[in-house]
Amino acid sequence: MPLTSPKEMFAAAYAGGYAIGAFNVNNMEIIQGIMGAASKEKSPVILQVSAGARKYAGQVYIMKLVEAALALDPSVPVVVHLDHGPSFEMCRDCIDGGFTSVMIDGSHLPYEENIALTKQVVDYAHQRNVWVEAELGKLAGVEEHVSSAEHVYTDPDQAVDFVARTGCDSLAVAIGTSHGAYKFKGEAKLDFERLQAINAKLPGYPLVLHGASSVPQEFVQLCNEYGGQVGGARGVPEEMLRKSAGMGVCKINVDTDIRLALTATVRQCFAEHPEQFDPRSYLSPAREAVKKMVAHKIRHVMGSAGKA
Ligand code: G3H
Ligand code: 13P
Ligand code: ZN
Repeated sequence: MPLTSPKEMFAAAYAGGYAIGAFNVNNMEIIQGIMGAASKEKSPVILQVSAGARKYAGQVYIMKLVEAALALDPSVPVVVHLDHGPSFEMCRDCIDGGFTSVMIDGSHLPYEENIALTKQVVDYAHQRNVWVEAELGKLAGVEEHVSSAEHVYTDPDQAVDFVARTGCDSLAVAIGTSHGAYKFKGEAKLDFERLQAINAKLPGYPLVLHGASSVPQEFVQLCNEYGGQVGGARGVPEEMLRKSAGMGVCKINVDTDIRLALTATVRQCFAEHPEQFDPRSYLSPAREAVKKMVAHKIRHVMGSAGKA
């Protein structure tokens, strides 16, 4: 099966009250781990590529790895998506390179500039049947090109105006999640009233949750036990993510949990087998840990198992 568009995936997810997991990919082991889980769980999946991932692995390498995954199991619907596209030019390069979805992230720009940039990408993408995700509001925390000390939650009326004026196909909203491993200092809290208001004003419209790793404590503990320093790491509780999936959220983004699963496992291998220096001895269990974690998420958080 060739790469698919999020269109049908999201329509089915919206109607069924579940979400599609969007997992960040950077190398072969991560792609194999995620695709192994999607195959096992018979779930549609989004593989997303950040600007940093493109720089690290190279767009062509990533596309060829995805091609290999599709050849091995054509039954899994796969979208390849640009995560946090920083410019029109990068979105254009990804569209021209075969991505079926791009995100243009103008969330750090003044409102009218975010609209203008998003619309420019939409005009280019829609002529080529490519899906466009945009973002309105700001997540606290740091990303490669966007950093914000404070959350700026998405305003529901502005969201309606933004979607109407840009024609974007899905919208990332800020309701209290943030990128990385340190999401909450006190109690974990998301603004579900706001999410409900956005969903009510944009019925049938797919919303996206960034910064949605749950930071499994088993991996945090394993990292720390074997020399890591990720004390106090906390994510979004799984039941909150599940709840959002029934409120118009069709895409849930996960990167940090993949990093934690992989790194915790590699640390453990290094500590337990210091005599080993064959990369396969630690990358095989790391890939397996990613697969197991993603399979759990597909089944118990996204609710997308069996929907392929
Ligand atoms: O939201 C950002 C993703 O976690 C990607 O991170 O830019 O370091 O690849 P990255
Ligand atoms: P996490 O840092 O919570 O995994 O979020 C990833 C993300 O939003 C990628 O765009
Ligand atoms: Zn993000």
